[in-house]
Amino acid sequence: MGKGKILLTGAAGYIGSHTWVELSQAGYDVVGVDNFYNSERDVIDRIGKILGKPVTFEEADCSDLKAFGKVFEKHPDIVGAVHFAACKAVGESIDKPLLYYRNNIVSLLNLISLMTEKGKKANIVFSSSCTVYGQPDKEHLPIAEDAPLKRSLSPYGKSKQMAEEILSDSVIAFPHLKVCALRYFNPIGAHPSALIGELPRGVPQNLVPFVTQTAAGIRDHLNVFGNDYNTPDGSCIRDYIYVVDLAKAHVKAIDKLLSDGCGNDAQVIDEPTYVEAAKTGRWFVFNLGTGKGLSVLELVNGFMKATGVNLPYEIAPRRQGDIEQVWADPRKAERELGWKADTPIEDVLRSAWEWQKTL
Ligand code: UD1
Repeated sequence: MGKGKILLTGAAGYIGSHTWVELSQAGYDVVGVDNFYNSERDVIDRIGKILGKPVTFEEADCSDLKAFGKVFEKHPDIVGAVHFAACKAVGESIDKPLLYYRNNIVSLLNLISLMTEKGKKANIVFSSSCTVYGQPDKEHLPIAEDAPLKRSLSPYGKSKQMAEEILSDSVIAFPHLKVCALRYFNPIGAHPSALIGELPRGVPQNLVPFVTQTAAGIRDHLNVFGNDYNTPDGSCIRDYIYVVDLAKAHVKAIDKLLSDGCGNDAQVIDEPTYVEAAKTGRWFVFNLGTGKGLSVLELVNGFMKATGVNLPYEIAPRRQGDIEQVWADPRKAERELGWKADTPIEDVLRSAWEWQKTL
């Protein structure tokens, strides 16, 4: 007997695939859903290989209510959902806002209505982002969950903010809905099996896939975007979190929502947007990071040290729209979820390199 059936949308994606493995290994029955808009079909077989058993997968577009509804008809015993299905490239979202709002907002609306239909128990873990904080003022670093939210400039960032607002409004409206919004910092690395990992299409936009492709000789050098920021070595600072550690936080979040009486979320009470939602005791927000900021140059040097591979890089102009520095205060997740990201960064960077070598 499993611990319950969990729907995973965007299940073939980077974080989705790692979370599938962890949920399943923790005893949940996972129903994966994806439309392969930004992922590959063979990821499903690879997940089966890691788990050593057949997996349950339904191909559907979550923004298509009818198609998505069929998944619920087929699996009426779903007790919770982890919602990853979304587009995630900041730059692309500026060129294609409607794509972002359709995929990120319409999918979420469909999920909430299908989950809350007929008064069923509805538990949703939502894939949010530290982008909701924008560039925080120095006094708010490291960022805790009650730091002010700053209006995002990109449709991608706005879609994450809107999604959190839609979810918190829904918690107030549906007494049987519980939601946990997880605000990720920068997920990196790959599964130790090297069977799943990040699969960027075309030229990678994110730092670590560009690093590993450069190390592999696919790109001739890495551009470090800016060394004149107000940081110790002049390059931007982020909180890089191992994707497997991140995946494990989703298991803890589902465990929490499924347990009865999960208690009030006191720490978001200060946030005007969420005051009423937090009072319900069914709305939770967690920052998921390591609590340590790492600069781009530190990451580049750390990669070379961890792998012994040379990484040619050049200092380039700043990238437009980049945030100077941001890292998490993850203590609330440790306190309330019993979760901590503790994989050493050298191991994380090596896992990214092992994955790159298999590609
Ligand atoms: C941003 C968002 C994040 C979003 C992600 C999606 C913030 C704080 N984070 O991540 O919410 O989910 O985009 O893509 O807004 N860099 C280089 N050279 C490169 C690539 C990157 O120097 O070739 C630097 C960037 O300037 C940045 C760091 O590496 O300082 C990390 O960049 P990236 O991996 O793109 O992530 P974010 O921009 O932090």
